[in-house]
Amino acid sequence: MSNKIYLFANWKMYLDYDESNILANAIADKKKSIPKSVKMAIFPSALALYTVGQALRDVGISIGAQNTHWIDKGGYTGEVSAVMYKEAGCQYALVGHSERRHLFHETNHEVRQKIEAILLAGLTPVICVGETEQERQNNKTESAIEIQIRAALQNLVWPKAKPRTEPFYGSGTGNRELIIAYEPVWAIGTGQACDPQEARRMHELIKKQVVALTGVSPIILYGGSVKPENIAQYLKNPNINGVLVGSASANFESWMKIISNI
Ligand code: PGA
Repeated sequence: MSNKIYLFANWKMYLDYDESNILANAIADKKKSIPKSVKMAIFPSALALYTVGQALRDVGISIGAQNTHWIDKGGYTGEVSAVMYKEAGCQYALVGHSERRHLFHETNHEVRQKIEAILLAGLTPVICVGETEQERQNNKTESAIEIQIRAALQNLVWPKAKPRTEPFYGSGTGNRELIIAYEPVWAIGTGQACDPQEARRMHELIKKQVVALTGVSPIILYGGSVKPENIAQYLKNPNINGVLVGSASANFESWMKIISNI
């Protein structure tokens, strides 16, 4: 298990090209104030990804894709493949983010196809799972999460048709991190963060399920209305390895406050 704190910033569609580059350069300038224990990755818009990556390259901050297509190349207007993101300098890719699942109707099957393509491309997927408010009210939280995790990871084997040299989870050969982001849908972008004790309980449940399915102990991040004021409450729990931050990461002052409060 990693003793690093994962601080992942999902800029969503909050920032345009210039704003993204200005923020990336400002963060790069403050690299010295980021503790060595922090592993930081930024997920900018596809448009700004390359230049943001250039700004962050020398300060050890990774970049990742917010969304990927599962086919490498072809007639898929408007899509960008995992392979292309890898070529552009990404190390990570978000997959199954609740905004993709709910606003763009992404299914568990599509999420799974994306995970396989992301792994084949040599990127590390950050697999997002979370229950809706209705599922929580109907006592279906655990089953909703279990269904998403099983669809993402059950029998996930290295496709033999396309051998690559990258290692893979649980194969005995690799050291790739298996990263899950627990992001309750009702907590994302609402200001209504999940109670840290409840997040801890969910992280324990997710960990058990992932270990049972893959034999690998996952890194689990919490996401959903993380702010400077509440970040420490999450990180003091050893089962919470880090956070995936949306709106509070797309602003220099709040991002710096988050860093100083960890
Ligand atoms: P939020 O978003 O921090 O704005 O709630 C988190 C996320 O969507 O990853």
